[in-house]
Amino acid sequence: MESLTSLNMDRQQRVVIDTNNQLWIASPSPGVWRIPLEREAAESGQVTSLVRYDANTHFTAHFHPNGEEIFVLDGIFQDEHGHYPAGTYIRNPPGSFHSPGSDSGCLLYVKLNMFPPHDDDMIRIDTHNANWQPGIQNGLSTLPLHGCGREQTIMLRWQPGTSFPSHQHDGGEEVLVLSGEFHDELGKYKEGVWLRNPAGSSHQPESTEGCLMLVKSGHMSK
Ligand SMILES: [Fe+2]
Ligand SMILES: [Fe+2]
Repeated sequence: MESLTSLNMDRQQRVVIDTNNQLWIASPSPGVWRIPLEREAAESGQVTSLVRYDANTHFTAHFHPNGEEIFVLDGIFQDEHGHYPAGTYIRNPPGSFHSPGSDSGCLLYVKLNMFPPHDDDMIRIDTHNANWQPGIQNGLSTLPLHGCGREQTIMLRWQPGTSFPSHQHDGGEEVLVLSGEFHDELGKYKEGVWLRNPAGSSHQPESTEGCLMLVKSGHMSK
C-alpha cells in the first residue's frame, strides 16, 4: 500500500535513486504503475515519478492544475491530441486536460504541478528529429527542450572520455540518466539513475563510457 506521506520534498537534500532497484507501485488506474521519486502527497501536488503503462491501458481523464511535463522513455504514449513515441518531450500547461493511455505500453518520466509562473506553452518535441548543438566544451552536445526564467531543461550527450569542470548548481540540478554512465566525486550513475543535487551544491562530473541524460537546472532555491 502506497504511503500517503510526502517523499523527498526537502530540496536542500541530495537524493540519488537507482530506479532499476525500485518496486513498481500500482496506481489507482488499472494497468498504470509508478515509481515515486519525490512527491508532496499521494495523489496531489508536486510529484516526480517514473510511470509505466501496460499495453492497452488508459488512465482516467484529468486536468493538470499546475502543469505536467513528460519524457517518453520507451514505447508509445498517447492521448486525444496525438501519439508520442520514445524520445518525445511533452509539456501540458496549467489548466490543460487529457485522457492519456497506451496501446503498445510505455514508460514515462513525469513531473506534475511544477510549472514556473506564466509558463503556458504546450510543447511536443521529437528529440530524435531535433537539432542538437555543440555543448560548451568538446565531447558534449546539447538539445534545449525548455526554458523559463532561470529554469532550463535540456538533453545532454557525453562522448566517451568527457570530463566537465567543477561547477556549482546555483538553482539546483536534476538528472535522469537515459543511457550509459557518468560519475563524480560522490558516486557512479548508470542508466535509470535519478539524482537531485541541491542549490549551492557542486561537483566535477565525468563520463568514461559516454552517456545521454535529461537535465533540469535552476528550478530549486536554497
Ligand atoms: Fe496528464
Ligand atoms: Fe552538475
